[in-house]
Amino acid sequence: MARSKSASQYVCQSCAATFPKWEGQCRACGAWNSLVETLIRTSDRRVKRRSGTALPASSQPQPLGALEATRTPRRSTGIAEVDRLLGGGFVPGSVLLLGGEPGIGKSTLVLQMAGALAAISAAEPGDAAVLYASAEESASQLHLRADRLGLTGGPADSALNVLASTDIAAIVTAASAMQPSLLVVDSIQTVEVDGLDGPPGSVGQVRESAIQLGAFAREQGVPVLLVGHVTKDGSLAGPRTLEHLVDAVLMLEGDRYGSLRLLRALKNRHGSTDEVGVMEMTATGLHEVQDTAAAFLGSGHREAPGVAVAAVLEGSRPLLVEVQSLVAPAGGMGPPRRTVAGLDANRLALLIAVLARRGGVDVSGRDVYASLAGGLTASDPALDLPLALAIAASHRDRALPADTLICGEVSLLGEVRPVRGLDRRLREAARLGFRRAIIPTASSTASGAPIPRQLELIEVATLRDALEQGFGAQTGTSG
Ligand code: TYD
Ligand code: MG
Repeated sequence: MARSKSASQYVCQSCAATFPKWEGQCRACGAWNSLVETLIRTSDRRVKRRSGTALPASSQPQPLGALEATRTPRRSTGIAEVDRLLGGGFVPGSVLLLGGEPGIGKSTLVLQMAGALAAISAAEPGDAAVLYASAEESASQLHLRADRLGLTGGPADSALNVLASTDIAAIVTAASAMQPSLLVVDSIQTVEVDGLDGPPGSVGQVRESAIQLGAFAREQGVPVLLVGHVTKDGSLAGPRTLEHLVDAVLMLEGDRYGSLRLLRALKNRHGSTDEVGVMEMTATGLHEVQDTAAAFLGSGHREAPGVAVAAVLEGSRPLLVEVQSLVAPAGGMGPPRRTVAGLDANRLALLIAVLARRGGVDVSGRDVYASLAGGLTASDPALDLPLALAIAASHRDRALPADTLICGEVSLLGEVRPVRGLDRRLREAARLGFRRAIIPTASSTASGAPIPRQLELIEVATLRDALEQGFGAQTGTSG
């Protein structure tokens, strides 16, 4: 009896809750106009499996000691920075999602991976080719890109197969027949499952496509790499549910008009999420950056009033970055502007309030802009103090001392609090030629290796102390 039941449901596009009837507001998450009619098919096979009484052997509970500890074999992604992030490479049968804003370089990176992997498999006689399913670009567009990346005329010519299709069934059929060493699907928002209502990119389509590709990956032991777009608010377009359906999520971040990209592991079932990779977009694709700590520092104009150098810890890596601020007379009617890029807007508002109440620097009636250089986005608490000092510097039109690293969290009471991994941040600063560091008092720097002696450490307990150290003793009323 292979009859399949079909029913229509309304699925919230923001939280994936389902309702039998259309409603103006999602009762689960409160989003307005987010319900979309979706055809749900429940095949009898699935129903039977759920309610069946005889469990297959693997469904029987087993004592921990009886389980085999198989080390998951890894397959290189062909790109060292990505391998490091994943803890060695792809795990066969796992699904990896590469997320990022449109235009950031996702297709470029996956094509580079596919090309590198194709080169590896072409060299190994037993290895299968790579299948790149492109649902966004035509085969000829893909060829142009491959040409630009220097992949044409090499092993990829034969070991990289392209399928321009948006149909999941066609992609899975081709992949099943080919048994590739990697299946790339670019992107999950543009493929669709035939017979399912709702346009490509809607929650139902994205989720069902990911489920089918995940089932293919597990059944055939092929690693699957999905590309997913991220919306402006940072969620993976539509469903966050996608994150639960995959084994690892990598995010490609940065300023699409700049050249630096940060690759972060948001989730990693087979490894840690404590790593970041830094890459640079060039005319021939994304390339690894050698000195990651200095990448976001730029060759900047650091004597300008309004710049402070911070060290943020991304995973276990310290990155030095310029915090820039501009304080200007309020331009318009209404409340003054607060604009951030790469920084947390709430944190900026809080620091402006603390500066006024505890530091004697009142910019509350002025427009304040703040950003991190190089398109970096970070929320490290150690950014508080450099941001506060950068605002004060712009307001007073006085530069902070050169070659100085500033590090510290600022509390509501105006105290400067210790930050984690201070010794690692200081060592990078010393290596890059910094000579002074303004740091929280009572910081334990004893944990790791000693701090290089050429770095003068200036300990501050409060925001007011830090302002004095940064600008000389005549702090107090200003503004
Ligand atoms: P793309 O990979 O298409 O972004 P996504 O798939 O995330 O939407 O990258 C688009 C940008 O990258 C585009 O503006 C051109 C630029 N680019 C380079 O700078 N160098 C290159 O070698 C390639 C292929 C693209
Ligand atoms: Mg793309």
